[in-house]
Amino acid sequence: MLNKIKLLQEEIEKFTSHNLDEIEQFRIKLLSKKGEIAALFSEFKNVPAEQKKEVGQKINLLKQSALDKVNKLKNQTVAGQSKEEYDDLTRPAETIPLGSRHPISIVKNEILEIFSRLGFTVNEGPEIEDDWYNFSALNFPPEHPARDMQDTFFIDKGSDILLRTHTSNGQIRVMEKQKPPIRTLSPGRVFRNEAISARAHCIFHQVEGLYIDTDVSFADLKQTLLYFAQEIYGKETEIRLRPSFFPFTEPSAEMDISCKLCGGKGCNVCKYTGWLEVLGCGMVDPNVLEGCGIDSVKYTGFAFGMGIERTAMLKYQVKDLRLYFENDVRFLRQFVSAY
Ligand code: PHE
Repeated sequence: MLNKIKLLQEEIEKFTSHNLDEIEQFRIKLLSKKGEIAALFSEFKNVPAEQKKEVGQKINLLKQSALDKVNKLKNQTVAGQSKEEYDDLTRPAETIPLGSRHPISIVKNEILEIFSRLGFTVNEGPEIEDDWYNFSALNFPPEHPARDMQDTFFIDKGSDILLRTHTSNGQIRVMEKQKPPIRTLSPGRVFRNEAISARAHCIFHQVEGLYIDTDVSFADLKQTLLYFAQEIYGKETEIRLRPSFFPFTEPSAEMDISCKLCGGKGCNVCKYTGWLEVLGCGMVDPNVLEGCGIDSVKYTGFAFGMGIERTAMLKYQVKDLRLYFENDVRFLRQFVSAY
C-alpha cells in the first residue's frame, strides 16, 4: 500500500500538460469515483490497525496533491499553452494570411503594364454615361441595334443616360480635352443586357486603347498588337487579323491568336480552327476624330478593345466566366502574381 502511494505521488509530481483534455484525463484517472485514489480508500479497511493512522494521512495528502496539481495546471493554461508562453510579449506575432489579388485585377494590371511600356497612359471614364459619349460620338447611327433597350441598360425610360456598354467613352473624353499625340488606355467595368452563361455576363470588364498621331498606320496597329499578344500569351504566339465591322473604326478587324493548347493543330477550346478570337480593333473613323475636334486630314489613329474576362479565361484556361463573379475563395486563392 505505502509503495503504491509513493508511486502515485511520483506520478503526480511528474505530470505536466497545457492541454485541457489531457489534464481532465489525468483527473479522471486519479480523482474520479472509480479512480486510483478512490481504490486506495476502499482498500483501506484491509490495512492493519497499527498502520491505519500513517496510511490514512498519506492517502489524504496524496489526494490533496492530485487536486492541487489539477487546479494549478488548469489555472496556468491559456488557449492551449502555458501562461508564461501566452504572456510572452517578445514572441513572434502569429502570421496573418494574406489575400491574393482578384484574377481580373491581375490581368488588367498586366495589360496596362504591357502597353505602358509603349507610352500609353490610363484614363478611366464614368460608368454612367450619356448617349453622346457611349454611342453618338463613336459614329453609331441613330437606328443602330446596340442602342436598343435589349442591349443597353438605360437609367430611366426615355432618358439618354445609360450604363456604358464599352469603355470607349473614356477615349472620347480624352480626345475632346487633349491634342494629339494621344496614347491612352481605358480600363473598366461595362454593362450589357445579356443572359448570364458560361461565356457571357451582364457585367464584365474591358481595356480599350487609342493611339492618335500624324502618320499612324495599320502596320503600327498590327505591330503593337503582335507585341502585346506575345507579351501576355507567350513569345511563340502568332496573330491574325480578320476583317470586321465597328461603327467607330474603318477598316475594322478582329484579332485571333494561335491556340496554345493545341499549338494550332485544332482542339475543342479553339473549336478545331487553331485560332482564338481575343480583341476588336481598327483605324479610328475620321468622323470620330472630327466629332472630337481633331483634324482628320492631319491625324490618323488606331483603336482596340478587349474583354478582360476573356483574356483571363484564355490565360488561365478557365472555362466558366461566372467563376470570376462568385468570389469563391477556393477559386480566388489560386491566383498569385507579380501584378
Ligand atoms: N468598343 C468595342 C466593343 O466594346 C471594342 C473595340 C474597341 C473595337 C476599339 C475596335 C476598336 O466591342
